[in-house]
Amino acid sequence: MQFRSLGKTGAQVSEIGYGAWGIGGEMWQGSEDAQSMIALRRAVELGVNFFDTALAYGNGHSEMLVGKLRRSSVEKIIIATKVPPKNRQWPARAGVPFNETFPRDYIIESTEQSLKNLRVDTIDVQQLHVWSDEWVGADEIWEAVRLLKSQGKIKAFGISINDHAAGSALKAAKTGMVDLFQVIYNIFDQSPEEELFPYCLANNIGIIVRVPLDEGGLTGRIKPETVFPDRDWRNNYFRGDRKQQVYDRVQKLKPLLGAEAKTLPELALRFILSNPAVSTIIPGMRNIANVETNTAVSDGKHLSEKLLKELKKHKWVRNFYGE
Ligand SMILES: NC(=O)c1ccc[n+]([C@@H]2O[C@H](COP(=O)([O-])OP(=O)(O)OC[C@H]3O[C@@H](n4cnc5c(N)ncnc54)[C@H](OP(=O)(O)O)[C@@H]3O)[C@@H](O)[C@H]2O)c1
Repeated sequence: MQFRSLGKTGAQVSEIGYGAWGIGGEMWQGSEDAQSMIALRRAVELGVNFFDTALAYGNGHSEMLVGKLRRSSVEKIIIATKVPPKNRQWPARAGVPFNETFPRDYIIESTEQSLKNLRVDTIDVQQLHVWSDEWVGADEIWEAVRLLKSQGKIKAFGISINDHAAGSALKAAKTGMVDLFQVIYNIFDQSPEEELFPYCLANNIGIIVRVPLDEGGLTGRIKPETVFPDRDWRNNYFRGDRKQQVYDRVQKLKPLLGAEAKTLPELALRFILSNPAVSTIIPGMRNIANVETNTAVSDGKHLSEKLLKELKKHKWVRNFYGE
């Protein structure tokens, strides 16, 4: 496992981190705690030291599992969690005032709840789960961040940027208050390269890459006939002819497999690690097989300029979350 700096936080984080949404259950059907704990522990054995969870994942259930992992690990692990918007609206919508999403006391209460779920005294990374640059002048938000840091309840502060909207937090970046951003960046959505990444590189702001596999689409496992469990949220994400659309796009990537990346998940992760702005990637994982495959990609080898240039042709601008 290779490590990178998480911006100015001073932390060294594993290039492959752990996305812990799925193990919270609820929206992702088919998660079993026993299997999730085995996957989490295997990740630590293989060098993963960065775990991304959220209060909203299974209403604290994912946090409880990650907290349990921390207590049982000899190795030091870094935990990032998130404050859900008070109005429970994902993503943030234009025109909604900050006091409906992140009033000062609510940020503090939510952090206290996460501290309890995780059973820790300090949260390594606290993030806001949605963001709108319309809130950049809301002093209450920054006051809450300063207070939580001064009390030692959080070490670093980040913002999870709205889906496929990499440019929607640039004003926040310029406040100097944000230690790191979490953003969607993958072969289909390469938009963070335009403004966000150059700014963050120049200003030493960490980047956590989420949804590296396009919710499974970029693994090649989503086929037109794929069926998800009844209450799984992916029934909505991949609704209508979307599975076919994803499948068709992915077929076009297959000729690019070879010496540099033998499989689609490997190609997807290597593409992201080839960008120096990235601190860590957090693929969603629920079993040992995926943990082993994904961690193996962190070997210091980056894709060639030639292949990266080819991959630029596979950008796909769309928003399956919001459309
Ligand atoms: N707004 C936000 O802040 C936000 C939103 C979304 C996600 N996140 C964070 O980002 C993390 C990653 O995003 P995500 O989990 O939604 O999407 P993702 O990482 O793009 O995809 C997860 C899917 O890929 C599958 N997978 C993982 N590794 C694989 C491999 N090697 N081969 C084949 N399939 C593989 C998983 O399989 P299984 O189904 O078998 O587990 C799961 O179905 C989340 O867990 C969460 O921590 C944050």
